[in-house]
Amino acid sequence: MTAKGRHFGRPDVLQRHFSGPIRFSGSDWQWWLANDDVAHDAAERMDRHMRGLDTDTVTTLRERKGRSIFRIQANQGDFFAKEIALKPARKCFGAFFGVQNRLFGYDHGSAEVDNTLALNDRTHQGHDVLCLGERLRGGLPTRQLLIQPWLEGWINLGEAFQAADEHGRRSLLYRMEALLKAMHDARICHLDINNGNLMVSTRDAKAPLRAIDCAKMETRVTQPAVSTALQIGKMLRELYGRDEADLAKRYAQARAMQRRIAGAEGDNEATDTLLALSLRYRLSKSLSRRRLVTAPVVNIDGPALEKRVRASKKNADVPAIVWAQAHPAMADEIPAYSGH
Ligand SMILES: Nc1ncnc2c1ncn2[C@@H]1O[C@H](COP(=O)(O)OP(=O)(O)OP(=O)(O)O)[C@@H](O)[C@H]1O
Ligand SMILES: [Mg+2]
Repeated sequence: MTAKGRHFGRPDVLQRHFSGPIRFSGSDWQWWLANDDVAHDAAERMDRHMRGLDTDTVTTLRERKGRSIFRIQANQGDFFAKEIALKPARKCFGAFFGVQNRLFGYDHGSAEVDNTLALNDRTHQGHDVLCLGERLRGGLPTRQLLIQPWLEGWINLGEAFQAADEHGRRSLLYRMEALLKAMHDARICHLDINNGNLMVSTRDAKAPLRAIDCAKMETRVTQPAVSTALQIGKMLRELYGRDEADLAKRYAQARAMQRRIAGAEGDNEATDTLLALSLRYRLSKSLSRRRLVTAPVVNIDGPALEKRVRASKKNADVPAIVWAQAHPAMADEIPAYSGH
């Protein structure tokens, strides 16, 4: 079979970044490999594990129906592996063709490879991918395995922030802002940004943060300021919670961050509204953030959106925004924040 014939129809991203696919004898997995020995070694170890042969060097860190994660021990440094079950079945087609859309799904392994490498290329604050394994049924992938270098000495931002003193927290916020700025300038919206998906080095207090877990990422953002507002609000809510007494302070902090990242033109009524909303509420159920950040124009009716968002039980326990004509009011305009 010619290379062209064998690869026909497979995602461009796999062909661009990897060689393959290769198979180890006796395995029903096939592997796309970055061009180095390390990737081959990682794939071989994981392949043996999947066949029940190598039980010493692979540790299962978490087993879930859809996504299990593993640590693979190796001589030159460990690896991180994530197994992705392609369910429902239409995601197998998404993975096969490497397309991300509502029909074929967003969060399959081919998309995750594509997004992870796009983030890393454009910001240098993502992470590399060494290989992608696929188990085929009738020519279509039903499970995929993504392997990356193990981030030795890195922990997630939530843990780092909890453990940090005042000075350490300031440094983490500063570095988080730098990451959000890099994503703003690269026109990327993570869409699953949270404490567990931002990584911090414990060995180098100046090392830039890295974003991981890029399956749902949108890499063709047309509204970077909107994307930034959503990410700032979500991350400050993750880090500080949504304690009522702090909301005014958080909003001021969020607006200052928005202004520094997105500039004067990226600081407007729509971004203020999204900052106020995302600091308080989980938006993903009531609003397509993907559609918003890829829209040609943005038109947001804050009070109407808040009403929709508060209809969800999880959101109703937070004090509502005080609107001063369709614009979230500043702290000093809000009597409710005085505690009475
Ligand atoms: N390369 C890596 N090296 C070391 N640890 C990692 C690496 N990548 C991820 N992790 C750790 O594993 C956790 C899970 O990874 P990831 O977020 O990619 O998987 P997930 O299945 O989408 O998880 P979740 O559903 O919990 O978000 C991360 O929160 C992080 O702590
Ligand atoms: Mg994660």
